[in-house]
Amino acid sequence: MRHFTVTAATTPFALVCDTIAPDKSISHRCAMFALLSDQRSEINNFLQGEDTLNSLLIVEQLGAKVEREGSRIVIAPPASLSEPDTVLDCGNAGTGMRLFCGLLAGIKGSFILTGDQYLRGRPMHRVVQPLRDIGAKIHGRADGNLAPLCIQGGSLEPFRYQSPIDSAQVKSALILAALRAKNPSYYKESFLSRDHTERMLRGMGVKITKDEEGWIKIIPPTHPLKPLKITVPADPSSGFFFAVAAAITPGAKTTLTNVSLNPTRIEAYRVLEKMGADITFTLKEDIYEPIGDISICYQERLRSITVDSNIPWLIDELPALAIAMATAEGTSSVRNAEELRVKESDRIAATLEGLQRAGIQTKEWKDGYDIIGGTLRNATINSYGDHRIAMSFAIAGIRCSMFIEDVACIETSFPNFYDILREISEVKDGN
Ligand code: S3P
Repeated sequence: MRHFTVTAATTPFALVCDTIAPDKSISHRCAMFALLSDQRSEINNFLQGEDTLNSLLIVEQLGAKVEREGSRIVIAPPASLSEPDTVLDCGNAGTGMRLFCGLLAGIKGSFILTGDQYLRGRPMHRVVQPLRDIGAKIHGRADGNLAPLCIQGGSLEPFRYQSPIDSAQVKSALILAALRAKNPSYYKESFLSRDHTERMLRGMGVKITKDEEGWIKIIPPTHPLKPLKITVPADPSSGFFFAVAAAITPGAKTTLTNVSLNPTRIEAYRVLEKMGADITFTLKEDIYEPIGDISICYQERLRSITVDSNIPWLIDELPALAIAMATAEGTSSVRNAEELRVKESDRIAATLEGLQRAGIQTKEWKDGYDIIGGTLRNATINSYGDHRIAMSFAIAGIRCSMFIEDVACIETSFPNFYDILREISEVKDGN
């Protein structure tokens, strides 16, 4: 198992990050959506992380030809998707598995989706049940809640579905299924989850609209879609680790360039701003997504905050935000975030265990936690194989010294994380 130790920041630092990992959500979708066109899609800055490379491999197994030149990839879709002769391995990626369920449920053939030990323990009923309701045949352990999942693809009925969970993965799986039905389908969530699927499919020519009551209408296309020509922006969730680094280090500044400024993705920066960091957003372009730069400057010791709304817009950043809360003055609270329990790890338990080891007092709730701000002290942290837990505590290491166990998971989303971290702190591999 790979470990590393992070010690004390080179303070004060001025970090310009123009190599933050490309967006994971958008990269997954690029690989999959390229299959919906009959022409070659050209994708620049595709994330070379394990999760998205697994999606790309699956797309190849389904018959696409993929040319790779570093992070530039060209995907030539097959005339019709072929039935793969082996299992499709999503690795650690919930997005990969859930979106492929929606995509494959409507395609004739047998497909087996599996993943690593963590993904095989995560709930799949949230996509399997609504897909079964429209005719999908999906089997798996625990009545189809746990992978490996076997999908016997076939024809699907149009639907009107109000999701009990505000999840972009569920929404995207259902939208992909809706593309295969004969008539329009309708999907509703109570709070807008990240909307990359709607934006990208609209850009490819799908008619997706939303009425005043929030019903998303998806009209199945009658022609193949336009190919993607896209440069994937930097991932605001990955950039956020270095935003927190600046916000907790006196005199420090981080600038993140060419990041997605999609409002469903940058809420954590707004929270950090309310806690006292000085944050500026500069919009530069709008292609599929608003894209620009974010600069984060230390201003004063952070103040505590309560985070109990807009949770889907900052769900992935809560572990890193917990590090900011741990250094803030006063007691911070997070509520309505029970989804954290079913991410790559139980992130409520993993975050609080790490903070307690680092000398921070916490209280656990079913749907969140309280963190009493204090002084982080040297600790050994178990990442539970979760990339965001490993990277969050690595950032905490710039205030003390953190020995992080089981860090191979960082490769799933941010392979050059260490290179950037080394610019602001000392990172030692091994014990
Ligand atoms: C994602 C959606 C989110 C997020 C995940 C990526 C996506 O999950 O946590 O990392 O790409 O659609 P949910 O939509 O299930 O909350």
